[in-house]
Amino acid sequence: MFESIPNNVNLSDNKRLQRALEQWQPDFLSWWMEMGPEGFQQDQIYLRTAISVEAGGWAHFDYVKMPDYRWGIFLTPPTQDRRIHFGDNIGEPVWNEVPGEFRKELRRIIVTQADTEPASVEQQRLLGKTAPSLYDLRNLFQVNVEEGRHLWAMVYLLHQFFGRDGREEAEDLLTRRSGNADTPRILEAFNKPVNDWLAFFAFTMFTDRDGKYQLAALAESGFDPLARTTQFMLTEEAHHLFVGETGIGRVVRRTAELMRQSKNGDVSEFGAIPLDIIQKYINEWFSASLDLFGGEDSSNAATFFGAGLKGRFREADDKKYRDHVALDDIYQLDVPSEEMLLKREEIPLRRAMNMVLRDGYVEDCERALERWNSILKEYGLSEQLYLPSQRFNRSIGIYDGHYFDPKGEMISKEQFDKSKSQWLPTEKDYQYVSSLMVPVYEPGKMASWIAPPAKGINHKPIDFEYVIRAK
Ligand SMILES: [Fe+2]
Ligand SMILES: [Fe+2]
Repeated sequence: MFESIPNNVNLSDNKRLQRALEQWQPDFLSWWMEMGPEGFQQDQIYLRTAISVEAGGWAHFDYVKMPDYRWGIFLTPPTQDRRIHFGDNIGEPVWNEVPGEFRKELRRIIVTQADTEPASVEQQRLLGKTAPSLYDLRNLFQVNVEEGRHLWAMVYLLHQFFGRDGREEAEDLLTRRSGNADTPRILEAFNKPVNDWLAFFAFTMFTDRDGKYQLAALAESGFDPLARTTQFMLTEEAHHLFVGETGIGRVVRRTAELMRQSKNGDVSEFGAIPLDIIQKYINEWFSASLDLFGGEDSSNAATFFGAGLKGRFREADDKKYRDHVALDDIYQLDVPSEEMLLKREEIPLRRAMNMVLRDGYVEDCERALERWNSILKEYGLSEQLYLPSQRFNRSIGIYDGHYFDPKGEMISKEQFDKSKSQWLPTEKDYQYVSSLMVPVYEPGKMASWIAPPAKGINHKPIDFEYVIRAK
Protein backbone atom coordinates (compact mmCIF):
# COMPACT_ATOMS: atom_id res chain seq x y z
CA MET A 1 0.00 0.00 0.00
CA PHE A 2 1.27 3.47 -0.85
CA GLU A 3 1.82 5.52 2.27
CA SER A 4 2.38 9.24 2.23
CA ILE A 5 5.18 8.78 4.75
CA PRO A 6 7.37 5.71 4.02
CA ASN A 7 8.12 3.89 7.27
CA ASN A 8 8.80 0.63 9.07
CA VAL A 9 7.02 1.61 12.28
CA ASN A 10 3.51 0.48 11.25
CA LEU A 11 2.40 4.06 10.96
CA SER A 12 -0.97 3.11 9.42
CA ASP A 13 -1.84 1.23 12.65
CA ASN A 14 -1.13 4.28 14.76
CA LYS A 15 -3.70 6.83 13.62
CA ARG A 16 -2.81 9.43 16.23
CA LEU A 17 0.85 9.49 15.24
CA GLN A 18 0.07 9.28 11.55
CA ARG A 19 -2.20 12.32 11.78
CA ALA A 20 0.37 14.28 13.76
CA LEU A 21 3.10 13.55 11.22
CA GLU A 22 0.82 14.25 8.27
CA GLN A 23 0.16 17.64 9.80
CA TRP A 24 3.84 18.31 10.26
CA GLN A 25 4.68 17.19 6.69
CA PRO A 26 3.44 20.32 4.82
CA ASP A 27 5.30 22.51 7.32
CA PHE A 28 8.44 20.53 6.64
CA LEU A 29 7.96 20.96 2.89
CA SER A 30 7.47 24.68 3.11
CA TRP A 31 10.59 24.90 5.29
CA TRP A 32 12.44 22.87 2.60
CA MET A 33 11.29 25.19 -0.19
CA GLU A 34 12.23 28.27 1.81
CA MET A 35 15.46 27.14 3.47
CA GLY A 36 16.59 24.11 1.43
CA PRO A 37 18.83 24.30 -1.66
CA GLU A 38 18.11 27.51 -3.56
CA GLY A 39 17.27 26.71 -7.17
CA PHE A 40 17.56 23.15 -8.53
CA GLN A 41 14.21 22.08 -7.01
CA GLN A 42 12.84 21.16 -10.44
CA ASP A 43 16.01 19.37 -11.57
CA GLN A 44 16.30 15.58 -11.74
CA ILE A 45 18.94 14.48 -9.23
CA TYR A 46 20.43 10.97 -9.21
CA LEU A 47 19.73 10.25 -5.54
CA ARG A 48 19.82 7.40 -3.11
CA THR A 49 16.60 6.88 -1.15
CA ALA A 50 16.09 4.64 1.88
CA ILE A 51 13.01 2.55 1.17
CA SER A 52 13.50 -0.18 3.79
CA VAL A 53 16.10 -1.27 6.33
CA GLU A 54 17.00 -4.55 4.59
CA ALA A 55 20.50 -4.87 3.18
CA GLY A 56 19.70 -3.67 -0.37
CA GLY A 57 16.67 -1.59 0.53
CA TRP A 58 18.20 1.44 2.11
CA ALA A 59 20.18 2.40 -0.98
CA HIS A 60 17.77 2.68 -3.86
CA PHE A 61 19.20 4.91 -6.65
CA ASP A 62 17.12 6.84 -9.16
CA TYR A 63 16.48 10.29 -10.60
CA VAL A 64 14.18 12.30 -8.37
CA LYS A 65 13.22 15.94 -7.93
CA MET A 66 14.20 17.01 -4.43
CA PRO A 67 10.71 18.08 -3.27
CA ASP A 68 9.47 14.60 -4.33
CA TYR A 69 12.12 12.83 -2.25
CA ARG A 70 10.42 10.17 -0.09
CA TRP A 71 11.55 11.23 3.38
CA GLY A 72 10.75 8.24 5.55
CA ILE A 73 10.94 6.91 9.08
CA PHE A 74 13.16 3.87 9.41
CA LEU A 75 14.44 2.21 12.54
CA THR A 76 16.85 -0.69 12.73
CA PRO A 77 14.66 -3.71 13.71
CA PRO A 78 14.49 -4.44 17.46
CA THR A 79 16.76 -7.02 19.09
CA GLN A 80 14.90 -9.60 21.19
CA ASP A 81 15.31 -9.15 24.93
CA ARG A 82 17.75 -6.27 24.58
CA ARG A 83 19.15 -5.08 27.93
CA ILE A 84 20.74 -1.85 29.08
CA HIS A 85 24.45 -2.62 28.84
CA PHE A 86 26.10 0.19 30.79
CA GLY A 87 25.64 2.60 33.69
CA ASP A 88 23.58 2.24 36.85
CA ASN A 89 20.73 0.29 35.25
CA ILE A 90 22.97 -2.27 33.60
CA GLY A 91 21.20 -5.60 33.02
CA GLU A 92 17.68 -4.13 33.15
CA PRO A 93 15.45 -4.50 30.07
CA VAL A 94 15.69 -1.52 27.69
CA TRP A 95 12.93 1.10 27.79
CA ASN A 96 10.35 1.20 25.02
CA GLU A 97 8.69 4.23 26.55
CA VAL A 98 10.40 7.31 27.94
CA PRO A 99 11.31 6.65 31.59
CA GLY A 100 9.66 9.47 33.59
CA GLU A 101 12.76 10.31 35.62
CA PHE A 102 14.85 10.95 32.49
CA ARG A 103 12.22 12.63 30.34
CA LYS A 104 13.85 16.04 30.51
CA GLU A 105 17.32 14.69 29.67
CA LEU A 106 16.07 12.58 26.76
CA ARG A 107 14.09 15.41 25.30
CA ARG A 108 17.15 17.64 25.48
CA ILE A 109 19.36 15.00 23.81
CA ILE A 110 16.87 14.43 20.99
CA VAL A 111 16.11 18.11 20.34
CA THR A 112 19.81 19.00 20.29
CA GLN A 113 20.56 16.27 17.76
CA ALA A 114 17.44 17.08 15.72
CA ASP A 115 18.31 20.78 15.50
CA THR A 116 21.61 20.09 13.72
CA GLU A 117 19.86 18.35 10.81
CA PRO A 118 17.86 21.27 9.32
CA ALA A 119 20.63 23.65 10.42
CA SER A 120 23.18 22.09 8.10
CA VAL A 121 20.74 22.21 5.17
CA GLU A 122 20.32 25.94 5.84
CA GLN A 123 24.06 26.48 6.02
CA GLN A 124 24.56 24.81 2.64
CA ARG A 125 21.60 26.22 0.77
CA LEU A 126 23.50 28.43 -1.69
CA LEU A 127 26.33 26.06 -2.55
CA GLY A 128 24.60 24.51 -5.57
CA LYS A 129 25.16 27.77 -7.45
CA THR A 130 28.94 27.27 -7.35
CA ALA A 131 29.31 23.47 -7.54
CA PRO A 132 32.68 22.40 -8.99
CA SER A 133 31.07 19.52 -10.94
CA LEU A 134 27.78 17.68 -11.43
CA TYR A 135 29.19 14.84 -9.33
CA ASP A 136 29.72 17.26 -6.42
CA LEU A 137 26.38 18.96 -6.99
CA ARG A 138 24.66 15.60 -6.66
CA ASN A 139 26.60 14.75 -3.49
CA LEU A 140 25.61 18.08 -1.93
CA PHE A 141 21.94 17.38 -2.55
CA GLN A 142 22.29 13.79 -1.32
CA VAL A 143 23.66 15.10 1.95
CA ASN A 144 20.87 17.71 2.11
CA VAL A 145 17.95 15.33 1.57
CA GLU A 146 19.42 12.86 4.07
CA GLU A 147 19.78 15.55 6.71
CA GLY A 148 16.10 16.20 5.99
CA ARG A 149 15.40 12.52 6.63
CA HIS A 150 17.37 12.67 9.87
CA LEU A 151 15.11 15.50 10.94
CA TRP A 152 12.12 13.24 10.19
CA ALA A 153 13.70 10.48 12.27
CA MET A 154 14.04 12.75 15.30
CA VAL A 155 10.62 14.33 14.84
CA TYR A 156 9.12 10.84 14.84
CA LEU A 157 10.60 10.29 18.32
CA LEU A 158 9.31 13.66 19.55
CA HIS A 159 5.77 13.04 18.23
CA GLN A 160 5.57 9.43 19.33
CA PHE A 161 7.04 9.69 22.82
CA PHE A 162 6.80 13.27 24.10
CA GLY A 163 3.16 14.21 23.67
CA ARG A 164 2.37 17.88 23.44
CA ASP A 165 5.90 19.05 24.32
CA GLY A 166 7.19 16.88 21.51
CA ARG A 167 4.80 18.44 19.00
CA GLU A 168 5.89 21.91 20.04
CA GLU A 169 9.56 20.99 19.77
CA ALA A 170 8.90 19.59 16.29
CA GLU A 171 7.40 22.92 15.21
CA ASP A 172 10.29 24.88 16.74
CA LEU A 173 12.75 22.81 14.71
CA LEU A 174 11.26 24.41 11.60
CA THR A 175 11.29 27.96 12.97
CA ARG A 176 14.86 28.37 14.26
CA ARG A 177 17.30 29.50 11.55
CA SER A 178 21.02 28.94 11.21
CA GLY A 179 22.95 32.13 11.91
CA ASN A 180 19.85 34.15 12.78
CA ALA A 181 20.54 36.59 15.63
CA ASP A 182 17.08 36.21 17.20
CA THR A 183 16.29 32.53 16.58
CA PRO A 184 19.64 30.80 16.06
CA ARG A 185 20.22 27.06 15.93
CA ILE A 186 21.19 25.49 19.27
CA LEU A 187 24.86 24.64 18.66
CA GLU A 188 27.40 27.20 17.52
CA ALA A 189 29.05 25.24 14.68
CA PHE A 190 25.60 25.10 13.10
CA ASN A 191 25.32 28.86 13.02
CA LYS A 192 28.62 29.37 11.21
CA PRO A 193 28.41 30.33 7.55
CA VAL A 194 29.41 27.67 5.01
CA ASN A 195 29.94 29.96 2.05
CA ASP A 196 32.30 28.04 -0.20
CA TRP A 197 33.01 24.44 -1.13
CA LEU A 198 36.21 24.16 0.87
CA ALA A 199 34.12 25.05 3.93
CA PHE A 200 31.51 22.51 2.82
CA PHE A 201 34.12 19.75 2.63
CA ALA A 202 35.61 20.81 5.97
CA PHE A 203 32.11 20.81 7.46
CA THR A 204 31.25 17.32 6.19
CA MET A 205 34.70 16.09 7.21
CA PHE A 206 34.82 17.52 10.74
CA THR A 207 31.31 18.56 11.79
CA ASP A 208 29.39 15.64 10.29
CA ARG A 209 32.01 13.41 11.88
CA ASP A 210 31.06 14.77 15.30
CA GLY A 211 27.55 13.69 14.27
CA LYS A 212 28.80 10.17 13.62
CA TYR A 213 30.20 9.94 17.16
CA GLN A 214 27.12 11.46 18.79
CA LEU A 215 24.83 9.10 16.85
CA ALA A 216 27.02 6.12 17.70
CA ALA A 217 26.87 7.04 21.41
CA LEU A 218 23.06 7.31 21.18
CA ALA A 219 22.85 4.02 19.27
CA GLU A 220 23.95 2.42 22.60
CA SER A 221 21.05 4.05 24.46
CA GLY A 222 18.84 2.19 26.89
CA PHE A 223 15.90 4.07 25.35
CA ASP A 224 15.46 1.55 22.56
CA PRO A 225 13.59 3.66 19.96
CA LEU A 226 16.41 6.24 20.11
CA ALA A 227 19.05 3.52 19.77
CA ARG A 228 17.35 1.98 16.74
CA THR A 229 16.68 5.34 15.05
CA THR A 230 20.25 6.58 15.39
CA GLN A 231 21.68 3.19 14.36
CA PHE A 232 19.96 3.51 11.01
CA MET A 233 20.98 7.16 10.60
CA LEU A 234 24.61 6.06 10.80
CA THR A 235 24.30 4.16 7.51
CA GLU A 236 23.54 7.43 5.72
CA GLU A 237 26.04 9.48 7.70
CA ALA A 238 28.92 7.40 6.31
CA HIS A 239 28.38 8.96 2.88
CA HIS A 240 28.52 12.50 4.29
CA LEU A 241 31.90 11.76 5.85
CA PHE A 242 33.07 10.26 2.57
CA VAL A 243 32.09 13.47 0.76
CA GLY A 244 34.10 15.56 3.25
CA GLU A 245 37.20 13.42 3.49
CA THR A 246 37.55 12.73 -0.24
CA GLY A 247 36.52 16.31 -1.04
CA ILE A 248 39.46 17.77 0.89
CA GLY A 249 41.63 14.95 -0.49
CA ARG A 250 40.78 16.00 -4.05
CA VAL A 251 41.56 19.66 -3.27
CA VAL A 252 44.92 18.58 -1.81
CA ARG A 253 45.60 16.42 -4.88
CA ARG A 254 44.91 19.28 -7.29
CA THR A 255 47.06 21.66 -5.25
CA ALA A 256 49.91 19.12 -5.05
CA GLU A 257 49.78 18.51 -8.79
CA LEU A 258 50.04 22.24 -9.51
CA MET A 259 52.73 22.84 -6.89
CA ARG A 260 54.86 20.46 -8.91
CA GLN A 261 54.13 22.35 -12.11
CA SER A 262 54.60 25.88 -10.84
CA LYS A 263 58.10 27.35 -10.69
CA ASN A 264 57.76 29.05 -7.32
CA GLY A 265 55.23 26.65 -5.74
CA ASP A 266 52.49 29.29 -5.86
CA VAL A 267 49.32 27.58 -7.10
CA SER A 268 47.12 30.68 -7.08
CA GLU A 269 48.30 31.53 -10.59
CA PHE A 270 46.52 28.33 -11.71
CA GLY A 271 43.35 29.01 -9.78
CA ALA A 272 43.99 26.41 -7.09
CA ILE A 273 43.91 26.67 -3.29
CA PRO A 274 47.30 27.06 -1.55
CA LEU A 275 48.08 24.52 1.18
CA ASP A 276 48.26 27.15 3.90
CA ILE A 277 44.65 28.15 3.23
CA ILE A 278 43.58 24.49 3.35
CA GLN A 279 45.40 24.24 6.70
CA LYS A 280 43.55 27.29 8.03
CA TYR A 281 40.18 25.78 7.10
CA ILE A 282 41.20 22.56 8.89
CA ASN A 283 42.12 24.62 11.96
CA GLU A 284 38.83 26.50 11.87
CA TRP A 285 36.48 23.55 11.43
CA PHE A 286 38.33 21.06 13.61
CA SER A 287 38.30 23.45 16.57
CA ALA A 288 34.64 24.42 16.04
CA SER A 289 33.69 20.76 15.83
CA LEU A 290 35.53 19.85 19.05
CA ASP A 291 33.23 22.32 20.82
CA LEU A 292 30.28 20.13 19.80
CA PHE A 293 31.41 17.39 22.17
CA GLY A 294 30.65 19.70 25.12
CA GLY A 295 32.76 20.35 28.22
CA GLU A 296 35.78 18.15 28.94
CA ASP A 297 34.63 17.81 32.54
CA SER A 298 30.87 17.47 32.40
CA SER A 299 28.22 16.55 34.95
CA ASN A 300 25.69 16.15 32.13
CA ALA A 301 27.91 13.56 30.50
CA ALA A 302 28.08 11.68 33.81
CA THR A 303 24.29 11.80 34.19
CA PHE A 304 23.65 10.61 30.63
CA PHE A 305 26.06 7.70 31.04
CA GLY A 306 24.90 6.70 34.53
CA ALA A 307 21.27 6.73 33.42
CA GLY A 308 22.04 4.55 30.43
CA LEU A 309 20.92 7.21 27.93
CA LYS A 310 24.22 7.72 26.09
CA GLY A 311 27.07 5.21 25.97
CA ARG A 312 30.60 5.25 24.67
CA PHE A 313 31.51 4.51 21.03
CA ARG A 314 30.74 0.79 20.55
CA GLU A 315 30.06 0.39 24.28
CA ALA A 316 28.99 -3.25 23.80
CA ASP A 317 32.50 -4.24 22.70
CA ASP A 318 33.95 -5.96 25.79
CA LYS A 319 37.47 -5.88 24.38
CA LYS A 320 37.28 -2.10 24.16
CA TYR A 321 35.81 -1.59 27.63
CA ARG A 322 36.24 -4.03 30.51
CA ASP A 323 34.06 -2.06 32.87
CA HIS A 324 30.65 -0.83 31.67
CA VAL A 325 29.72 0.83 34.94
CA ALA A 326 32.72 3.17 34.93
CA LEU A 327 32.52 4.25 38.53
CA ASP A 328 36.07 3.41 39.58
CA ASP A 329 38.23 4.79 36.78
CA ILE A 330 39.65 8.25 36.29
CA TYR A 331 40.59 10.36 33.27
CA GLN A 332 43.63 12.62 33.16
CA LEU A 333 43.05 16.11 31.87
CA ASP A 334 45.42 19.06 31.36
CA VAL A 335 43.64 21.98 32.96
CA PRO A 336 44.86 25.56 32.42
CA SER A 337 45.79 27.51 35.54
CA GLU A 338 46.04 31.22 36.16
CA GLU A 339 49.83 31.28 35.81
CA MET A 340 49.56 30.32 32.13
CA LEU A 341 50.41 26.74 32.98
CA LEU A 342 48.71 23.43 32.36
CA LYS A 343 48.09 21.27 35.40
CA ARG A 344 47.34 17.58 35.04
CA GLU A 345 44.19 16.74 36.98
CA GLU A 346 42.30 13.53 37.52
CA ILE A 347 38.55 13.53 37.05
CA PRO A 348 36.09 10.65 37.54
CA LEU A 349 35.72 8.76 34.26
CA ARG A 350 31.97 9.32 34.04
CA ARG A 351 32.47 13.08 34.05
CA ALA A 352 34.95 12.66 31.19
CA MET A 353 32.63 10.74 28.83
CA ASN A 354 32.66 13.64 26.35
CA MET A 355 36.45 13.29 26.24
CA VAL A 356 36.34 9.54 25.78
CA LEU A 357 34.04 10.01 22.79
CA ARG A 358 36.16 12.88 21.47
CA ASP A 359 39.39 10.88 21.72
CA GLY A 360 37.96 8.39 19.23
CA TYR A 361 36.88 11.24 16.99
CA VAL A 362 40.35 12.80 17.01
CA GLU A 363 41.93 9.45 16.12
CA ASP A 364 39.49 9.16 13.23
CA CYS A 365 40.47 12.65 12.02
CA GLU A 366 44.20 11.78 12.31
CA ARG A 367 43.60 8.89 9.94
CA ALA A 368 42.16 11.26 7.31
CA LEU A 369 45.12 13.62 7.76
CA GLU A 370 47.49 10.71 7.08
CA ARG A 371 45.67 10.00 3.83
CA TRP A 372 45.87 13.62 2.70
CA ASN A 373 49.55 13.72 3.61
CA SER A 374 50.21 10.58 1.62
CA ILE A 375 48.81 12.42 -1.43
CA LEU A 376 51.39 15.18 -0.85
CA LYS A 377 54.12 12.53 -0.60
CA GLU A 378 52.91 10.88 -3.77
CA TYR A 379 53.77 14.14 -5.54
CA GLY A 380 57.18 14.26 -3.90
CA LEU A 381 56.30 17.20 -1.65
CA SER A 382 57.68 17.57 1.86
CA GLU A 383 54.85 19.83 3.11
CA GLN A 384 52.41 18.22 5.52
CA LEU A 385 48.99 19.12 6.85
CA TYR A 386 48.23 18.61 10.54
CA LEU A 387 45.46 18.74 13.13
CA PRO A 388 45.84 21.65 15.54
CA SER A 389 45.98 20.99 19.28
CA GLN A 390 42.64 20.31 20.92
CA ARG A 391 43.24 23.39 23.05
CA PHE A 392 43.51 25.74 20.06
CA ASN A 393 40.68 28.21 19.33
CA ARG A 394 38.08 26.74 21.67
CA SER A 395 34.83 28.37 22.82
CA ILE A 396 33.44 25.61 25.03
CA GLY A 397 34.98 23.80 27.99
CA ILE A 398 38.09 24.26 30.09
CA TYR A 399 40.21 25.95 27.37
CA ASP A 400 37.65 28.63 26.60
CA GLY A 401 38.93 32.03 27.69
CA HIS A 402 42.57 30.92 27.37
CA TYR A 403 44.81 31.23 24.34
CA PHE A 404 46.89 28.54 22.67
CA ASP A 405 48.85 28.26 19.45
CA PRO A 406 48.06 25.36 17.10
CA LYS A 407 50.77 23.28 18.82
CA GLY A 408 48.91 23.70 22.11
CA GLU A 409 51.37 26.09 23.79
CA MET A 410 49.63 28.54 26.06
CA ILE A 411 50.11 32.13 24.88
CA SER A 412 48.73 35.56 25.74
CA LYS A 413 45.72 37.10 24.05
CA GLU A 414 48.04 39.66 22.43
CA GLN A 415 50.21 36.91 20.96
CA PHE A 416 47.14 35.11 19.72
CA ASP A 417 45.67 38.21 18.08
CA LYS A 418 49.02 38.96 16.45
CA SER A 419 49.37 35.51 14.87
CA LYS A 420 45.72 34.69 14.28
CA SER A 421 45.89 35.52 10.57
CA GLN A 422 48.49 32.78 10.09
CA TRP A 423 46.33 30.17 11.79
CA LEU A 424 42.74 30.94 10.82
CA PRO A 425 41.26 32.08 7.49
CA THR A 426 41.31 35.85 6.98
CA GLU A 427 38.78 37.89 5.01
CA LYS A 428 41.31 37.87 2.18
CA ASP A 429 41.54 34.07 2.27
CA TYR A 430 37.75 33.73 2.16
CA GLN A 431 37.63 36.18 -0.72
CA TYR A 432 40.28 34.31 -2.65
CA VAL A 433 38.54 30.95 -2.17
CA SER A 434 35.18 32.42 -3.10
CA SER A 435 36.71 33.96 -6.26
CA LEU A 436 37.45 30.37 -7.39
CA MET A 437 33.89 29.22 -6.83
CA VAL A 438 32.48 29.18 -10.35
CA PRO A 439 29.88 26.59 -11.28
CA VAL A 440 30.84 23.71 -13.57
CA TYR A 441 27.72 21.88 -14.78
CA GLU A 442 29.12 20.01 -17.75
CA PRO A 443 29.18 16.22 -17.11
CA GLY A 444 32.69 15.00 -16.23
CA LYS A 445 34.27 18.48 -16.03
CA MET A 446 35.86 19.78 -12.81
CA ALA A 447 36.59 23.29 -11.54
CA SER A 448 40.24 24.42 -11.62
CA TRP A 449 40.82 23.93 -7.90
CA ILE A 450 39.76 20.30 -7.45
CA ALA A 451 40.86 16.93 -8.85
CA PRO A 452 38.26 14.48 -10.19
CA PRO A 453 37.04 11.76 -7.80
CA ALA A 454 38.56 8.27 -8.01
CA LYS A 455 35.24 6.87 -9.20
CA GLY A 456 31.61 7.77 -9.74
CA ILE A 457 28.52 7.11 -7.60
CA ASN A 458 26.86 3.66 -7.60
CA HIS A 459 29.23 2.30 -10.31
CA LYS A 460 28.29 5.12 -12.71
CA PRO A 461 31.14 6.78 -14.61
CA ILE A 462 32.49 10.12 -13.42
CA ASP A 463 31.02 11.87 -16.48
CA PHE A 464 27.54 10.49 -15.80
CA GLU A 465 24.83 13.17 -15.83
CA TYR A 466 24.22 13.14 -12.07
CA VAL A 467 21.95 16.18 -12.30
CA ILE A 468 19.67 16.80 -15.26
CA ARG A 469 18.93 20.50 -15.25
CA ALA A 470 15.32 21.50 -15.87
CA LYS A 471 15.03 23.56 -19.04
FE1 LIG B 1 22.39 14.02 9.93
FE1 LIG C 1 25.32 14.25 8.03
